[in-house]
Amino acid sequence: MGRVEYSSYSCRVETFGESTTTAAPPVAELHLHIEGTLQPELIFALAERNGIELPYADLDELRAWYEFTDLQSFLDLYYANMAVLRTEQDFADMTRAYLARAAAGGVRHVEVMMDPQAHISRGVALETCVNGVASALATSVEEFGVSTLLIAAFLRDMSEESALEVLDQLLAMGAPIAGIGLDSAEVGNPPSKFERLYRRAAEAGLRRIAHAGEEGPASYVYEALDLLGVERIDHGIRCMEDPALVERLVAEQVPLTVCPLSNVRLRAVDTLADHPLPAMLAAGLNVSVNSDDPAYFGGYVDDNFAQLVAVHGLSVGDRARLAANSVRASFADEARKAELLAEVSEWERASVG
Ligand code: ADE
Ligand code: ZN
Repeated sequence: MGRVEYSSYSCRVETFGESTTTAAPPVAELHLHIEGTLQPELIFALAERNGIELPYADLDELRAWYEFTDLQSFLDLYYANMAVLRTEQDFADMTRAYLARAAAGGVRHVEVMMDPQAHISRGVALETCVNGVASALATSVEEFGVSTLLIAAFLRDMSEESALEVLDQLLAMGAPIAGIGLDSAEVGNPPSKFERLYRRAAEAGLRRIAHAGEEGPASYVYEALDLLGVERIDHGIRCMEDPALVERLVAEQVPLTVCPLSNVRLRAVDTLADHPLPAMLAAGLNVSVNSDDPAYFGGYVDDNFAQLVAVHGLSVGDRARLAANSVRASFADEARKAELLAEVSEWERASVG
């Protein structure tokens, strides 16, 4: 196998009077793990290219594992499937496949998280994973019209020493990272474990985000804000259990990158109908809609919007607000934000007919 073929994707289309537009507005995707975009077909293609024997006979056998009971049950499969990523070309092909699909679904800017520790711990050089992803991001504007930034995420179930070592290596090699994040198994690994890491990242001029309040308690959201100085919270849905925290997040307009289909598939909520996104919007929280690990959770950003429309009847105005929130909460420069906000306004105007 030389090049990875991209299948063509059709966007869901809604018709309003004379105008035709998609359910999903143009957005900035702010919560996306690039390793979570590895589709089953690509897993098999890369395994074949690299001579790796998979523990699944075929796609159906692999897909049978995509039934999750919680975050850890997903992480086990997510890390196992990364075994097929060996070369720069593998990382580049995975990234390009995501960009092609995301662009077709309305993503206009993306801040891609990657998990370097998950690769170096299995013998892949840091340069291989970083350069592979970065090479695909470098041509994204030209190829897909999608602007990009790269964020190095650290695994919170590993030690802070390991994270510090990798951050130092990333800085020493001049890796093109805009910021750092914190992901993996949340409960029992509070933000307070990573204070030195975030201090060092701040000193290096990096932007800072962290997963908090996905499975972990609201107290982790306070810790991420107060101890790590994060500028955005990934997920944050459990803030809804703490009215004082909601009040603070609204007052400070802290961006929360919410991932509805992920929350359903990882059983953070029972069903999409029970998802707190509409209540979060109504409370005045600064929320956006994101896909998290689209290959594992049944959908990209546009699929998240389509299902929110189907289940919650999310209005065009709500969708435009979510999109504008994503743009304002991004780390794109002001000129790019202005461009994207104009696109959101135009989408809203065309969608209301
Ligand atoms: N790594 C990839 N997806 C994740 C998620 N939803 N939560 C925590 N860590 C992750
Ligand atoms: Zn995530």
